[in-house]
Amino acid sequence: MMKTFPLAAALLAAGAVAMAQAATFDGAAQVFRLDGGNTSYVFGVNERGELQQMYWGGRLGAEDRFTAPKPMIGWASFDPSYSTTPQEYAGWGAGLYVEPALKVTFADGNRDLVLHYESHTMTANGVDVVLKDIERPIDVTLHYAMDPASGILARSATIENRGKEPVTVEQAAAAAWALPVGHYTLNYLTGRWAGEWTLTQETLHPGARVIESRRGTTGHQANPWFAIQAGGPSEDASEVWFGALAWSGSWRITVEQDQLDAVRVTGGFNPFDFGYVLHPGEKLDTPVFYGGYSAHGMGGASRLLHHFEIAHILPHRIGTGEDAAPKPRPVIYNSWEATEFNVSEAGQMALAERAAALGVDRFVMDDGWFGQRKDDHAGLGDWYVNPQKFPHGLKPLIDRVHALGMDFGLWVEPEMVNPNSDLYRKHPDWVLNFAGRPRSEERNQLVLNLARPDVKEYVLGFLDKLLTENDIAFLKWDYNRNWSEPGWDQLPAAEQKKVYVAFTENLYSILEELHRRHPKVELESCSGGGGRVDLGILRYADEVWPSDNTDPFDRLSQQYGFTYAYTPQIMMAWVTDSPHWLNKRSTSLTYRLLSSMEGSLGIGADITKWNDEEMATAKRLISAYHQVQRTIVQGDQYRLISPLNGSEFSATQTVNREKSQSVVFLYIHSTQEGRIFPLLKLKGLDPKAEYALTPIEGKAQPDTPTEASGAWWMNHGLQMGGDFRGDFQAAAFRLDKK
Ligand code: GLA
Repeated sequence: MMKTFPLAAALLAAGAVAMAQAATFDGAAQVFRLDGGNTSYVFGVNERGELQQMYWGGRLGAEDRFTAPKPMIGWASFDPSYSTTPQEYAGWGAGLYVEPALKVTFADGNRDLVLHYESHTMTANGVDVVLKDIERPIDVTLHYAMDPASGILARSATIENRGKEPVTVEQAAAAAWALPVGHYTLNYLTGRWAGEWTLTQETLHPGARVIESRRGTTGHQANPWFAIQAGGPSEDASEVWFGALAWSGSWRITVEQDQLDAVRVTGGFNPFDFGYVLHPGEKLDTPVFYGGYSAHGMGGASRLLHHFEIAHILPHRIGTGEDAAPKPRPVIYNSWEATEFNVSEAGQMALAERAAALGVDRFVMDDGWFGQRKDDHAGLGDWYVNPQKFPHGLKPLIDRVHALGMDFGLWVEPEMVNPNSDLYRKHPDWVLNFAGRPRSEERNQLVLNLARPDVKEYVLGFLDKLLTENDIAFLKWDYNRNWSEPGWDQLPAAEQKKVYVAFTENLYSILEELHRRHPKVELESCSGGGGRVDLGILRYADEVWPSDNTDPFDRLSQQYGFTYAYTPQIMMAWVTDSPHWLNKRSTSLTYRLLSSMEGSLGIGADITKWNDEEMATAKRLISAYHQVQRTIVQGDQYRLISPLNGSEFSATQTVNREKSQSVVFLYIHSTQEGRIFPLLKLKGLDPKAEYALTPIEGKAQPDTPTEASGAWWMNHGLQMGGDFRGDFQAAAFRLDKK
């Protein structure tokens, strides 16, 4: 049975202030209303007893009242009212043709499920509403918790079998969202290994657009986030409804425009190959689906989401309520691109010396330090320190790193095993597999079945030991393949599909337990780059590795896409060597640094080969970055010029919450026909305040004032000097309030 995720409690624990009550219930009209930030969300019980969505949009007046919801009309004899009425959580039954929230099969073969309102309980920031089938003892509790500051609503469901026979859940959404009838543009993020975070935009048409992962994990190919804009794409001015699913297993979000132009978004567990048997008395908790609304375009939507992630999702927050925030990430050095598997005590120490000289805060040793790991053919699963590479264990290296003023981090890939390992030789039954069938290897590895209690104990045990015996501040937690043959033969045949839920739940519970035992240890979620980034893992992961593609030019587009859904606070970005291994592109060190400085900066180059000038450049820019990092990674981000679609230029800007500091990054892809960089009208400043402009890198046009009002920088704008031209050029400025 799964653990309940206490939504309201989470928001409360995070210190969210229950300002004027976030949720109210109008008993006469049977209408629930949730208010937060600039958003109101309203639903009620209609005359048939269904829970009907009524409004989701800009915040309404405190005295505004709704009358009882009226079911939608049916359309001839083909689309019954049950199907056309936007239900909060529709069971599949009674002629439902749109995407159901819940589909079950009862032990006697009945598959009809019609959910009606039963009761509710007001909670700190929302409400729990209990729905019941019209005849069978199956309860669904819908959890709603509204963030008072952002208006982002957390929704999930608990399905409980209160009968005497088992029930199989075949499809379970966390929530279904309904939008007003309109013309919309759908935004979502797609990709592949080394090509994650492509912003995909399309006009919504009748039919369903499915965004999903069937891979057992979040996936590089699509990310569980959507944003739907009224009208065409706009950064600042349109209404946007957005959502993000907190789940790191197989997931699905279905965006549907029905035959009457109604738009719904339903998301949760991926129903593909899904089947969760609930025995009498058992419950299933769905993941949480967060949804929000902004009247300020895609920029407004992402700024809300960034602040929500910083204030409520990420671990290691300091402070309470909306002021809660984790510390900006340490500037790291990572050894992967410099040494790959060829790590050694002397080699790592040499890198650490150089990293410390640059002003790096954390030294991370990547793959290769354990078991018989010489390349990717062996060693995963055997988490002892390789005695040839580290004859004295990790201690001498860790001590050296500490003496140099940095803390120490280590790479692990806990859920995987190489067939060429002691672990696999001992426990070949521990991997996902169907008995007697081939076990498909990817990168010469198999997936341990984390759903098994013994595997879970093993993984927790070795990680706990590693962290207890060594002074480790940080783990880079990798996951380098997706599932295949997802059998779990410890369970009866009819119950084996439970693996889709139990695996991910066990992953979360290992992370939770590690956090309890080693509260200071920080974590990066990596999956061959950005294959496991979602609001579920981000409750435990302080940062993520967005992509194995560290080409600084490609990164600009990736970072642009990434920030639609996730805050730059978690967006690790390393400076690596040039020419780049993937695109063979040569770029200057300054360009590489400024590309990475848009996110949480790291260095991943072979710095033993850097000359004095390169060391000095990196040191200077790392120091400049340290001074403004909080503004860059936790401020309000504005995308001024998009790098997409072959753009010659791009620019981003962030303003801290106090509006006392702003940082602007400008990039040239390739100057054509002598065109100078466009005039940049800044955003988000206090128009009345005076701001001093200081270059971090590059020069503005000579007559640019060194000080001017926020109004000046936003209306008159910032003009670059004429010599800012060429290929792969970058500049950056800071503005400080006087
Ligand atoms: C994955 C990660 C890389 C690196 C390698 C090590 O590909 O994304 O950053 O850690 O594994 O094998």
